[in-house]
Amino acid sequence: MKIVVIGGTGLIGSRLIEKLTEHGHEAVAAAPSTGVNTLTGEGLAEALEGAQVVVDVSNSPSWERDAVWNFFTTSTSNVLAAEKKAGVGHHVAVSIVGSEKLPANDYFRAKIAQEELIEKSDVPYSLVHATQFFEFVKGIADEATRDDGVHVAPVRFQPIAGAEVSENVGKVAVGAPLNGRLEIAGPEQYQMDEFFRGVLKALGDPRTVVTDPHARYFGSELEQGTLVPGDGATLGRIDYYEWLKTNQGK
Ligand SMILES: NC(=O)c1ccc[n+]([C@@H]2O[C@H](COP(=O)([O-])OP(=O)(O)OC[C@H]3O[C@@H](n4cnc5c(N)ncnc54)[C@H](OP(=O)(O)O)[C@@H]3O)[C@@H](O)[C@H]2O)c1
Repeated sequence: MKIVVIGGTGLIGSRLIEKLTEHGHEAVAAAPSTGVNTLTGEGLAEALEGAQVVVDVSNSPSWERDAVWNFFTTSTSNVLAAEKKAGVGHHVAVSIVGSEKLPANDYFRAKIAQEELIEKSDVPYSLVHATQFFEFVKGIADEATRDDGVHVAPVRFQPIAGAEVSENVGKVAVGAPLNGRLEIAGPEQYQMDEFFRGVLKALGDPRTVVTDPHARYFGSELEQGTLVPGDGATLGRIDYYEWLKTNQGK
């Protein structure tokens, strides 16, 4: 199968390209660095020629309110229009568990708009909702850092290894369109403040974690279940601390 991966040079995309290629598919990475820009449409029609499936794992270079909104709405509209012209039969996109519960957050709001465009289009689709990637954990701590420490709410948190996101997205891409969503998460559910305390200790990071029920996650307060999946989610096998042994500093 010819499968075009928009964002195929990124964290999830590059592993996905490797996996699909290993399984004998013609996996094409489409990104600005390979001559495809979904914001301007440059190179898009050519890349999609003869493709059966398009997977969108691109990400906005800026998370500023207008920039992130423009990225996900314009890119997604351009990709869906190009798919219709090329006769693509399956659009797969990765979004975030709980996105719909955080519409006040600029990034999540843009992801919700992306999903709505996909759901409304005529192209058969699958949405993979993933929890936070292990690779993103340090970035979350940095964003939550204030003068007196890292402010984290005592809510449930269930991150997943990026490799397992790529693996699950690959399985969805080669299957029949779900015309709905699949939730994926890591094997272990933690209390978020305790998790970050353990992570900073394991990393030898001197910052302290301040438990704060009103701590904002990228601008939004969290409820107990905001970031964790519902029943029936597909769970990974890779433990965060096992992963950390070989991925320290990543
Ligand atoms: N981080 C998390 O914890 C998390 C959790 C759940 C879901 N997600 C979602 O997972 C997806 C993938 O994230 P990631 O961390 O793998 O992303 P990433 O590593 O930041 O990669 C972003 C990709 O997007 C491409 N891109 C940027 N601008 C583009 C444009 N104008 N046209 C086409 N491609 C463009 C980049 O290409 P270049 O290499 O050429 O710049 C790169 O391949 C995102 O949609 C994100 O919302 C993330």
